[in-house]
Amino acid sequence: MPNTILITGATGNISSGIIAQLNGSGHSLRALVRNPEKAEELRRQGVEISVGDLEKPWTLGSAFAGVDTVWILAPPGPRAPEQCSNALWAAKQGGARHVVRMSAFGAAHTAPTINSRLHALSDAELVGSGIPFTILKPHFFMQNLMMGAQSVAQQGAMYFALADGKMGLIDSRDISDFAAHVLTTTGHEGKTYILTGSASLSMHQIAAAIGNAIGKPVAYVPVSVDDARQSMAQMGLDDWTVNLMCDYYAAYSANWGDLVTDDFQRVTGKAPRSIEQFAKDFGGAFGNQ
Ligand SMILES: NC(=O)c1ccc[n+]([C@@H]2O[C@H](COP(=O)([O-])OP(=O)(O)OC[C@H]3O[C@@H](n4cnc5c(N)ncnc54)[C@H](OP(=O)(O)O)[C@@H]3O)[C@@H](O)[C@H]2O)c1
Repeated sequence: MPNTILITGATGNISSGIIAQLNGSGHSLRALVRNPEKAEELRRQGVEISVGDLEKPWTLGSAFAGVDTVWILAPPGPRAPEQCSNALWAAKQGGARHVVRMSAFGAAHTAPTINSRLHALSDAELVGSGIPFTILKPHFFMQNLMMGAQSVAQQGAMYFALADGKMGLIDSRDISDFAAHVLTTTGHEGKTYILTGSASLSMHQIAAAIGNAIGKPVAYVPVSVDDARQSMAQMGLDDWTVNLMCDYYAAYSANWGDLVTDDFQRVTGKAPRSIEQFAKDFGGAFGNQ
C-alpha cells in the first residue's frame, strides 16, 4: 500500500540516497529541509518539500502532519539527542505509525565514544515512545576513506589514526538502500539492525584494495591519535568534531570495530558492496586516470 514517508536530513549523504531509491516507487515522499534553496533539486524530482528545523520543534508541525512513516536522521553533534527528541515528538503528534532511525554502530550508554553514547539516548527514547520503531546501527562508512583520497592521488599513501584495528566498514550507499527497504516493507517493527560490510578489514587491507583498483601501490601510514588531533585542529575543524573523530580513532585502533553481521544480506537478500567495489567506483577520486 502506498504510504506517505517523511525523510529528515534530506539534503545529506544517507537520506538523499534513500530518496533516490524511493522516488518513483509509488510512495509519497516528503522531505524536511532547513533551507528550501538547497531543496530545489528534490523539488524538481517531485518530492514534496517541507521547511523546518529539528532544533525548533514549533516549526515541525506541518512536515510531520499525516505521515505514515518517518525516517529520523540527525547530523552528529552535541544537540543530536535534542533534534531526535523533537522529531520523535512531532512524529507522535502527526500520527506516524512507524519510525525508522539512523543510529550508529556500537551505540550504547557504556560506549567509548561520545557520539555512540548520544545515539544511545535517542535509541532509548524511541524504544520508550510507544511508536513502532526500527533502529539502524551502521558501521564506519567506506566513504569516510575519501578523507585520504588526495594523499593517495598525490603520494600513494593514506594517513589514518587507526593503528592495526579492523572494522566491518560498510558502503554508505548500502545504508541508504537498506533504509529504503525497511521504510517500504513490513516485518521490521521492534528490530535493531547492525549494518556492516561482509568483511572486517585493517587499513593495510583497505589500502591494498584501493591500490589494486587504481593500478598503483598504496601504503597505509598509521599516525597517532594525538597527531591526528593536531592536524585536524590546524585544518580548522571545530573541537566537537575533532574529538568525535579522535574518539572513534582510539576505539577502532583498539579493535572495537572488529565485527561483521549478516543483517544486510539477511534482510535485503543481496550482498553488501565490497571494498573492491567501493574502490573501483570511486577510483577517480583516488587518482585513477
Ligand atoms: N560517518 C560514519 O562513518 C557514520 C557511521 C555510522 C553512523 N553515522 C551517523 O550518520 C549520521 C549522519 O548521516 P549523514 O552522513 O547522512 O549526515 P549529513 O550528510 O551530515 O546530513 C545531515 C542532514 O541533516 C540536516 N540537518 C542538520 N541540522 C538540521 C536541523 N537543525 N534541522 C533539520 N535538518 C538538519 C542537514 O541539512 P542541511 O543541508 O541544511 O545542513 C543534512 O540534510 C549521524 O547520526 C552519524 O552519527 C555515521
